[in-house]
Amino acid sequence: MPLVDMEKIVSLCKRRGFVFPGSEIYGGLAATYDYGPLGVELKNNIKRLWWKYFVQDREDMVGLDGGIILSPKIWEASGHVQNFKDPLVECKKCHHRFRPDKLKDASKCPDCGGTFTKPKMFSGMFKTTIGPVEEEGITAYLRPETAQAMFANFKNILDSTNKKIPFGIGQMGKAFRNEITTGNFFFRTLEFEQMEIEYFIAPDADWNKIFNNWVEYIYGFSDLIGLPRPNFFSHEIPDEERAFYSKRTIDIEYQFPWGLDELWAIAYRTNYDLSRHQEASGENLEYFDETANKKYIPHVIEPTFGVDRTMLALIANAYIEENLPNGETRTVLKFNPIVAPFKAAIFPLLKNKPELVAKAREIFNDLKKDFMVEFDDNGNIGKRYRRQDEIGTPYCITIDFDSLENNDVTVRDRDTMEQKRIKIDKLKNYLKENL
Ligand code: GAP
Repeated sequence: MPLVDMEKIVSLCKRRGFVFPGSEIYGGLAATYDYGPLGVELKNNIKRLWWKYFVQDREDMVGLDGGIILSPKIWEASGHVQNFKDPLVECKKCHHRFRPDKLKDASKCPDCGGTFTKPKMFSGMFKTTIGPVEEEGITAYLRPETAQAMFANFKNILDSTNKKIPFGIGQMGKAFRNEITTGNFFFRTLEFEQMEIEYFIAPDADWNKIFNNWVEYIYGFSDLIGLPRPNFFSHEIPDEERAFYSKRTIDIEYQFPWGLDELWAIAYRTNYDLSRHQEASGENLEYFDETANKKYIPHVIEPTFGVDRTMLALIANAYIEENLPNGETRTVLKFNPIVAPFKAAIFPLLKNKPELVAKAREIFNDLKKDFMVEFDDNGNIGKRYRRQDEIGTPYCITIDFDSLENNDVTVRDRDTMEQKRIKIDKLKNYLKENL
């Protein structure tokens, strides 16, 4: 895969309204980003497709939308309060903090050359206080993963649905981590979105087979959204690097512009989480298996996904610069149409001809009932094509004077740049078939 220059992606994302640096008018806030008008559409498309594919299309899945702020007891029981920490050294001169294992030269600060303090443990969780008086309030945490609400609600879901093991819970939403190592645009941020699954199985189930089926199903999602399989690498995490409760973990790595890095992951977490919550809460979290006629604490396979990283992978994969026969270069985001923010853009050839604008508006109003479309009458047609190519719109539809006579329009394909005349009454079908 040709490696794309990250700076070009960063610049396009800002210029066209995908991603803006966080709090920019105040000088920015490191490792935070805001998603612009196109970014929010792309993200929503990823989430919608994920929810349909992993939750709605599967009879063995249900959804949950748990809180961002949960009882601190949950994070004590899960082990996060104790273990979700990194050893950090602090530069005595500039006070920047680093993970010693990530430093090329651990003897001096890479930013100012200063010397370091001894390593100290820093929590990866953001703290907040519940209650009107800070000193008397309860310390709570912004969730560092969505997973725990699914364990905490395991019993509620069993009692309120007809699900029998094996079944899973899916959830998506914001998670927060006090990340120290940042960089690579919005790859690792303080605030991000996860899409996670906790899939509950019997203790004596063939967990490796179920795990492998999930891996294949996850790759089906990469096909669906248009991330090519050759860009992936399933990285089996060796015993000594896995969490002690995990019997198998695969980091699903993707070839980002800077190299292979974790995009998604899947772990077999045994019955660690439910056992910990049963012990700490005193609630019975056992499942009665009618077929086997026995009670047990279910085991869990956890596929987990980052929305933001999926978006970054999609943009990096779609970004192409093409040399045209006339010597110009065009930049295109060749998104799979299923994730593209706009499916088509509608142009009146000239914005000062009311009859063209009226016809274009009529077509736009009709198409927007079925597709995410944009109306654009800014600048000349060449400029409009350039903008739509850069934001990955698969089709541009131009209404000209012939359209008024013949009831047809020019449809231009983003990838081939070929133009076809299509009858207006066939337009919806044409888009449905090709998108
Ligand atoms: N419940 C398991 C869990 O949270 P993880 O590997 O720590 O596992 C899951 O996180 C996914 O969340 C990652 O594969 C990645 O896509 C995303 N992710 C984690 N930390 C992130 C960060 N700081 N910024 C953006 N995405 C992040």
